[in-house]
Amino acid sequence: MASNYAGLLADKLDQEGERQQARQLRERLARVVPALVSAQDAGHGVSMGQLPTDNESRLNTVDVSRPQSRDIDLVLPDAIQGRLDEFLQCVRHHDQLVRAGAALPNRVLIYGPPGTGKTQTARWLSGQLELPLLTVRCDTLVSSLLGQTSRNLRRVFDYAEQTPSVLFLDEFDALAGARGNERDVGELQRVVIALLQNIDALPDSTILVAATNHEQLLDAAIGRRFAFHIPMPLPDASLRTVLWQRWLGSYAPASIDWDELSDLSSGATGAVIEHVCMDVKRTAILSGQALIDKNELYRRLGLTQAMASQERLSTTEQEIVWLRQWAPEHFSLRALAGMYNLSTRKITSIIQAKKGGSHGNKKGVGRR
Ligand SMILES: Nc1ncnc2c1ncn2[C@@H]1O[C@H](COP(=O)(O)OP(=O)(O)OP(=O)(O)O)[C@@H](O)[C@H]1O
Ligand SMILES: [Mg+2]
Repeated sequence: MASNYAGLLADKLDQEGERQQARQLRERLARVVPALVSAQDAGHGVSMGQLPTDNESRLNTVDVSRPQSRDIDLVLPDAIQGRLDEFLQCVRHHDQLVRAGAALPNRVLIYGPPGTGKTQTARWLSGQLELPLLTVRCDTLVSSLLGQTSRNLRRVFDYAEQTPSVLFLDEFDALAGARGNERDVGELQRVVIALLQNIDALPDSTILVAATNHEQLLDAAIGRRFAFHIPMPLPDASLRTVLWQRWLGSYAPASIDWDELSDLSSGATGAVIEHVCMDVKRTAILSGQALIDKNELYRRLGLTQAMASQERLSTTEQEIVWLRQWAPEHFSLRALAGMYNLSTRKITSIIQAKKGGSHGNKKGVGRR
């Protein structure tokens, strides 16, 4: 509508003899992103100004964002970073590769456990390519109305083809579960087939990123459509150290033993480390401290690791017992007494009382 009105205005200016202004206006219009111009073509219900929506819920099925690569700091093993760089190179030199007959479709599948940075990687790719990120909300895409899902998919892919962008199918397994794997087999088969058709109809130059926690649940036919498969592993000891240092930043006291911290956080994802860091930083800032409290950091990490190993710590006593057996050299009786504002005698009696109870045995979390 905006470009229509601007065109009308230019005509009017022309009629009134304001030729130069009319020309300037038309020049600017010509530079408007093609998508805005195609907004005039609202015939098929998809345009840049009008995000695709699910007919039933009226929710948008796509989020548009413009991640800036300077805001995103990925910490990945060299080999994985190398494969992401290779993908970027292929996208950037796609035309050249096509001419040489050596092009791959610009499609990458990122897989790995929750919290390992898959969504963040998609944002990083979009930032590096300086293209908008169209994130598909698979939850609203899978419509409760039978048959709607395929239509929703078509709209999303149409939308993505209108303008240079990165189309990102997050939580991809919701869409691309193996055929015959679900209760409503008929509907799921239709979705998978629609997905295959849409991917096949996509020009190779369209950038498609998909992320999933369950690579093994993906239909093999869908997996084959992606030229790049990139695993997101749990961070190893040295990457964990980098993550801790990055997120604690200048709030880290000099006394922190990074190797010990990395060792104690074995099995933690990047998301967990970030979460613990933000919690202790917040506590420090709100209590007017320039540095985080080391004991508080270990305590929060210990409680997070307890959750990861399915421990339910609902009382202070259970927390104390867990922390003591999780890292005894760190949680001395005196340290625990200070943390929980109790006497060492009380701490001793809590630990004695629980000895031989359900929390007495050290679980496999924490140490390698
Ligand atoms: N390797 C990493 N490098 C940098 N940040 C990371 C890394 N792994 C996780 N994070 C941080 O953890 C948070 C969660 O990451 P992200 O949302 O990308 O995980 P995900 O793999 O998409 O998880 P899910 O499967 O639950 O969607 C982000 O804020 C991100 O900054
Ligand atoms: Mg994610």
